[in-house]
Amino acid sequence: MQTFGIGLAGMGNVGTGVFKHLTQNRALLRERLGYELAVRRVAVRDVEKNRGVEIPRELLTTDAQSLLDDPGIHMVVELIGGKEESLRLMLGAIERKKIVVTGNKALLAERGKEIFEAAFAHKVPVFFEAAVGGGIPIIKSIREAFIGNHIQSIHGIVNGTSNYILTRMTEAGMGFSEALAEAQAAGYAEADPSLDVNGGDAAHKAIILASLAYGFWVPEGNVFVEGIEKLTASDIQFARKMGYRIKLLATIKAHEDGAGIEVRVHPTLIPETHVLASVNGVFNAMAVRGDVVGETLFYGKGAGQDATASA
Ligand code: HSE
Repeated sequence: MQTFGIGLAGMGNVGTGVFKHLTQNRALLRERLGYELAVRRVAVRDVEKNRGVEIPRELLTTDAQSLLDDPGIHMVVELIGGKEESLRLMLGAIERKKIVVTGNKALLAERGKEIFEAAFAHKVPVFFEAAVGGGIPIIKSIREAFIGNHIQSIHGIVNGTSNYILTRMTEAGMGFSEALAEAQAAGYAEADPSLDVNGGDAAHKAIILASLAYGFWVPEGNVFVEGIEKLTASDIQFARKMGYRIKLLATIKAHEDGAGIEVRVHPTLIPETHVLASVNGVFNAMAVRGDVVGETLFYGKGAGQDATASA
């Protein structure tokens, strides 16, 4: 049986989940794929840190770029985040014809054009299912299942942390900071949680979805973005009295006259009878409308170790 070698860069929350589940479901994957998936090297910042999973010491390195020189590594899984080292790693992997998997939505939103041009030139696939919607297979669905559709609109709750905060403020009357602390403790938030609450992370995901739906990369400066940090408990209560829920909603939409698209992220009043109003906690949901398929809805955990590792 053939072995397919994986180089895992980054053992934060998601990287640890990927290693754990590749190990736990190794036999299942072997049976389904017809070959062995083997993690051959794991790049970390601190080799001594206890991550709650057993990683053979000889797999660990602090030099992520060393994954590129290992001929036994066929796929590089980039989960280190940030924009410089991760970009170098991805472009280096593409040049060496190693498959790339990444969850780095900020980097894709900013440098996606360059990354996918390089991937196209070298005929190397770049997979990024974990970059949007946690465990929800939205990337694959838009790319493959809806290939015969003009995408008319995507409306989505795409940031788990802000949805968790809004839910706790609405249902438990909790304060903003306390709810954010809970989301951080559960491993939902970004290393810099301001991106969760200021709408930046949702904007990165909206840019990725727009690129799949419309075939070009919208510059972040062209996206209207407002986060949830100015919402107060009384905004939420007033909305509730009027029969609405407030959600941080990403909208990606083609104008009906064919004159362009719009991409925006902002708190939105959703009637409580609408299905998106009942998407609570860390859950994400995306309503995708295509000219052939009509309205569709995707729902699942949008953040967290296991859901993201699954993607
Ligand atoms: N911080 C992100 C969120 C993680 O809360 O949605 C998943 O992309």
